[in-house]
Amino acid sequence: MLEKLQAQSPDALLALIKLYAADERADKIDLGVGVYRTGQGDTPVFAAIKAAEARLVEEQDSKSYLGPEGDLGFVHALMPYIFGKDATMGGRIEGMQTPGGTGAVRLAVAVAQKAGVKTIHMGVPSWPNHAQIFSDVALDVRTFEHANEDGTANLENVLGAIRTAQENEAVLLHGCCHNPTGIDYTDEQWDQIAEALSQSKALAILDIAYQGLGRGLEQDAYGIRKVLAAVPEALIAYSCDKNFGMYRDRVGALYVMMKDSSLLDPVLSNLNALARASWSMPPDHGGAAVRVVLRDDTMTALWLDELETMRTRMRQVRDHLAAAGDVGTLDLRPLGQQNGLFAVLPLNKDQIQRLRDEHAIYMAGSGRINIAGLHMGNIEKFIGALEEVTS
Ligand code: LMR
Repeated sequence: MLEKLQAQSPDALLALIKLYAADERADKIDLGVGVYRTGQGDTPVFAAIKAAEARLVEEQDSKSYLGPEGDLGFVHALMPYIFGKDATMGGRIEGMQTPGGTGAVRLAVAVAQKAGVKTIHMGVPSWPNHAQIFSDVALDVRTFEHANEDGTANLENVLGAIRTAQENEAVLLHGCCHNPTGIDYTDEQWDQIAEALSQSKALAILDIAYQGLGRGLEQDAYGIRKVLAAVPEALIAYSCDKNFGMYRDRVGALYVMMKDSSLLDPVLSNLNALARASWSMPPDHGGAAVRVVLRDDTMTALWLDELETMRTRMRQVRDHLAAAGDVGTLDLRPLGQQNGLFAVLPLNKDQIQRLRDEHAIYMAGSGRINIAGLHMGNIEKFIGALEEVTS
């Protein structure tokens, strides 16, 4: 029976990891999958996480099961960073741990679908896995263009989608550091998005996977907090995979906000049932390490410092690219205004292939680059190669 299955192509982004690893050229540059890299090109374990892991080894006395909700100490410790001072909005928000941000998005749309959502509106381009997850839970996906050609966000398009969305429909919004474009809504645009959502019957699903890597921890939460203040209910998918460097440990959380705290339990019981049927319970280690960091003032200060170092370094790379201005047919100036790990360069397939073949520069087929793959030792080579393939 299984022989009837059609072969699927490997995930293009993940396939790049292997292609890059197999390339033996010493000056190769990896701008593919979204992991942070230092100025030396490494992706080290955070010192704060190392300290937390050491403490876990000392103090953890059991690895017995927790439950589908995972480590609620972890889930709750994150909340002030995401939601601000009134972290539960008067008891209206609760969450559960998920296997990474992917698990959180998956659970969000699965529960939305169970509640009757049939269609989801999203800006494109988006993280390729969004569409894959939505089609896997059989949601109808309606798209709108996220960005303008000048590298700013297209407000009219998102407002149009929100106004068109009906009951039993959802709208997906990236909280910050838009993947893949790096083009975020401004605070003023978020104000209008929140206002439009307050008039809409559609369900807001907010995906925030890069908090702290754009303008700063608090600033990056502006949009989601504004939306949550305006709507009666929402789902918030969160990832710690980047801002705690936990990638393969898969550390995420899904939060639900209801208009009244008494409405939370039925939703949470559905989330628990869906998680139980999917992965039973999330992997513990990474969430436990994040909990230890956030409950210890010294480790928290260390984490905040490491996050700030990452953010500042990526800003420097962006400023350097923006200062290059016109490069061949490209205008790199807008990259200076954008946020987070990613930017999309308007390159065609042939140019992307030439960058790989002739210059050992690896980027996604969409033209997305990982800003953190660049540093002062390789950025001039990158700019030169862009000039060459686009001239
Ligand atoms: C990315 O977009 O590169 C990351 O979010 C990694 C992934 O899972 O795709």
